[in-house]
Amino acid sequence: MPRRSPGHRSFSPRTGGDRLVGSAAVARDWTPGSWRARPAAQQPDWPDEGDLDRALKVLSSYPPLVFAGEARSLQASLAKVSAGNAFLLQAGDCAESFEEFTANNIREKLRVILQMAVVLTYSLGVPVVKVGRIAGQFAKPRSAPTERIGDEDIPSFRGHIVNDAAPTAAARIPDPERLVHAYHQSASTLNLVRAFTKGGFADLGRVHEWTLEFVASSPEGRRYERLAAEIERALKFMRACGVDTESTTTLHEVDVYTSHEALLLGYEESLTRTDSLTGGWYDCSAHMLWIGERTRQLDGAHVEFLRGVGNPIGCKVGLATDPTWVLELCELLNPNRIPGRLTLIARMGADHVEDGLRPLLAAVRDAGHPVVWACDPMHANTYTSASGRKTRDFATIEREIAGFVAAHRAEGTWPGGIHVELTGDNVTECVGGADAVLDEQLPDAYHTMCDPRLNGRQSLDLAFGVAELMRTSGLV
Ligand code: PEP
Ligand code: CO
Repeated sequence: MPRRSPGHRSFSPRTGGDRLVGSAAVARDWTPGSWRARPAAQQPDWPDEGDLDRALKVLSSYPPLVFAGEARSLQASLAKVSAGNAFLLQAGDCAESFEEFTANNIREKLRVILQMAVVLTYSLGVPVVKVGRIAGQFAKPRSAPTERIGDEDIPSFRGHIVNDAAPTAAARIPDPERLVHAYHQSASTLNLVRAFTKGGFADLGRVHEWTLEFVASSPEGRRYERLAAEIERALKFMRACGVDTESTTTLHEVDVYTSHEALLLGYEESLTRTDSLTGGWYDCSAHMLWIGERTRQLDGAHVEFLRGVGNPIGCKVGLATDPTWVLELCELLNPNRIPGRLTLIARMGADHVEDGLRPLLAAVRDAGHPVVWACDPMHANTYTSASGRKTRDFATIEREIAGFVAAHRAEGTWPGGIHVELTGDNVTECVGGADAVLDEQLPDAYHTMCDPRLNGRQSLDLAFGVAELMRTSGLV
C-alpha cells in the first residue's frame, strides 16, 4: 500500500480481497450504483428527477453497445503498450455533436486516425493500438456551472448529451431525453466504425485512398504519399516472397476501439452489465472509459464507479498531483496490477511536463504498477488568441510531447502513446503546423463546439513529428 499523506481522508479499505466470480475479479463492496454514496462532481442539474430516472430505465433495458470480450481484447493490447511493445493512439473529437452526425464526418475522422496509425506503425515498428474518442464522447466537464450572457447567468453548455449549445437559458436546460438520443447516435456511429474497419475500407492495400482531398496537396500529404508507396512496395515484396497477403486478415482489417470520458455516471451505470462468460461487470457504453481532470478525486464518485468495471480505464493526470496521489489511484483502480487495465494520461502543459511528470513516473515504476503512460498535449496548452478564439499552437503541442518523451527517457519508462483531439474536417481551430494556420485565419473554419481540434493536415504532421521524436530519442 502507498503511504498516505498526513491529513488524507481515509475511507474503509477497498483494496485487496477482491472476490473472484468466473474468471473476473469483482471489486470489494462495489455495485454499479455504489458511486451514489459519494460526491459526484460535474453532474448536470436535471430539472426533474422523475424524467431522469425514466430515461435511465429505458437505457438499462437497451442492448449493450460493446461486448466484454472486446474490452478484454483492448486490455490485452494495452498490456503490450504497458510493457513497451506497442503504442497507443487515442484520438477523436473533443465533443461529438448531435447536429454534425453524418457518414462523411465519421469516415473522415476515421481516415485521419488510420493515416496517423499507419505513419506511427511504419515508423516505430511496433503495433499501434487505435482508440477513438468516438461513439459516445458527448459529455463535457466545465470550469464553471454558469456562463454570463449579456446581463444574465445561464447554465453552461455540457455537451449535446445534456443540453444545447445555443446561448439562451431555455436551450441550456438539461434534458434527459438527450441521454437516449446519445445512446442511439453512439450505436449508429459504432456500426459505421465497425463497417469501415472490417468491411474493406481499412485494407492496407488502400493506404493511398485514405488521404483526404485537402491534405493531398500539402507537405504532410506528399510525405504521407511517399510512405504509402513504400508500404505498397513492401506488400508487393511480401507477395513476391510467397507470403499470402490476401488471406492475412490483419492486412485487411483493423481494430478501432471506442472511448469517452465517463462523466455522467447515471448514463454509465445504466449501460453497465454482467458479462455472461466471466460474471464480471463491464460498462458497455464503450470499450475504454476515462476519468477527467476535474473528476479524479480519490474519494469521489467517478473513481468509485470505474474501479468496479472490468473495462480498461484511463485517468487524466494534471500538474496538481503528486506521487502519493498517483499511487493511491493505482491501488484503487488496479489493485490486482493487471497490465493494460490502467492508462494514465498526463496533461501538464509544455512548460511543465518534463519536471512535473518525472516524480510520478519514478513512483509508479518503483511500485511496480503496470500502467500505460499516454500524453494529452492538448488540454493544458489552450489559450485565447489575439483574435479572441480559444486555440492551441501546434508547436506547443509538439513541445509537450517532447517533454513527455524526455521525462520517460530520463526515468527509463516507456512513453506509451498520445491522446489528441482532432477532426477530419478542414477546420482552422489550432494555429501552426507545416502548412501553417495563422491566427487571423482562425475564424475561417472554426467549427468546434468545445475545444480547438487539429485538422487532418496537422494530425498527420503530428504523427510524423512523434515518430521522428521517438526515433531521435533512441526509443525505437
Ligand atoms: C477532455 O479530454 O475532453 C477533457 C475535458 O480533458 P481534461 O479532463 O484533461 O481537462
Ligand atoms: Co477537450
